[in-house]
Amino acid sequence: MRGPDRQRAVYLAGVSGTRPRVPPDATKLEARAKRHMSRSAFAYIAAGAGTEQTVTANRRAFDRWRIVPRVLRDVSQRDTGVELFGRRFPSPFMLAPVGVLEMVDRGADLAVARAARRHDVPMILSNQASRPMEAIARELGDSPRWFQLYWSQSNDLVESLVARAEAAGCEAIVVTLDTTLLGWRSRDLDLGYLPFLRGKGIAQYTSDKVFRRLLKDPPSPDAEPPRPKPTLRAIRTLIELTRAYPEGFLKTLRSGEGRAAVQTFTEIYSRPSLTWDDLPFLRERTKLPILLKGVVHPDDARRAVDAGIDGLVVSNHGGRQIDGQIATLDALPGVVDAVGDQIPVLLDSGVRGGADIFKAVALGASAVLIGRPYAYGLAIAGEDGVREVIENFMADFDLTLGLSGCRSVAEIGREALTRVD
Ligand code: FNR
Ligand code: LAC
Repeated sequence: MRGPDRQRAVYLAGVSGTRPRVPPDATKLEARAKRHMSRSAFAYIAAGAGTEQTVTANRRAFDRWRIVPRVLRDVSQRDTGVELFGRRFPSPFMLAPVGVLEMVDRGADLAVARAARRHDVPMILSNQASRPMEAIARELGDSPRWFQLYWSQSNDLVESLVARAEAAGCEAIVVTLDTTLLGWRSRDLDLGYLPFLRGKGIAQYTSDKVFRRLLKDPPSPDAEPPRPKPTLRAIRTLIELTRAYPEGFLKTLRSGEGRAAVQTFTEIYSRPSLTWDDLPFLRERTKLPILLKGVVHPDDARRAVDAGIDGLVVSNHGGRQIDGQIATLDALPGVVDAVGDQIPVLLDSGVRGGADIFKAVALGASAVLIGRPYAYGLAIAGEDGVREVIENFMADFDLTLGLSGCRSVAEIGREALTRVD
């Protein structure tokens, strides 16, 4: 989607009195999406850890770099494409793995997949998706996809998820490392709401044969979570929970498998004991490129290269994990200087427009990931909402590229920026 084409479409629609449903401005986008979501859904999506300083820091870091455009360079023909792991993408951005999208829209990951496919924008399927990866893959057709893995307590489950991802046409595995424990999220704590305990965001597990096998082993008694009091609300939760299970509502309710699934999930979904020594296990089990998501320290970046890792995502999980963490754009140059000539370095957290993509690329990112904005588009208008968000990012980046005096992503260098402290 060229910038001028998108502008034309929006302005022409405006002539006949139609304004975009999805606001192009990131702040307005969040505000409008909030009106389309339950209190708990909005809190979950918007939340940052603690006092949410990292969320603010991510944005401030972008603000400290300014673009210094060059003029008279014939930018009539522009190529916004990038190549990663031998595949060409239309723009240097991808859809970040975002779990539990069913909180926002019934279509959830399937609607996102259909929107991504419209422009061949790569989608990173979440380990906490609301739909099984095979179903998402069907909606994607030939459109590119990667799989994001949370390394569970069970290596058998890790192996199974990775094998399924390969079979579902995923072209890379992204191992997220900043969420071995869930961050202290004040908004969610305030509401006492965690979607997984209601059976949301566990579709990759309940559709997995290794997970189903694990379900059959009765959980150890001391792992048994306290049973909620049988209030009306608790019953409603139980019903929500059994719906999450793909076996038919009544059967699941009778067998209690929905509850068991949630319990098993909470016991095994993450492995805080994970170390560098575990990586060979994965390396030996897939030929796909492996990326580590959540790396911000140059020494970790170097170690990843030594471990045979193929790419990094400099990320702080959108500020959801540690309050007061280094902003990703501040961490990027150090990581790029350490390993940028050996493996691609991607970035996410706080990317809100074309200029942010430009700045990240100028500082050495091969591409960026976008998280909350597309979830907000989904909340406002389902598949169409996600498509509009994608088109806005594509258009905005294309225009920023040209207006800065560049014709291609390769022409964006550090000299295109200046720092204002
Ligand atoms: C996430 N993120 C995330 N990351 C991941 O590796 N697996 C996941 O399942 C999720 N789930 C998830 C849910 C929600 C609601 C949000 C907002 C984020 C993090 C995501 O991939 C990405 O790192 C951030 O969203 C990027 O920051 P922005 O663009 O949201 O600021
Ligand atoms: C989150 C998990 C799902 O950030 O990654 O909510």
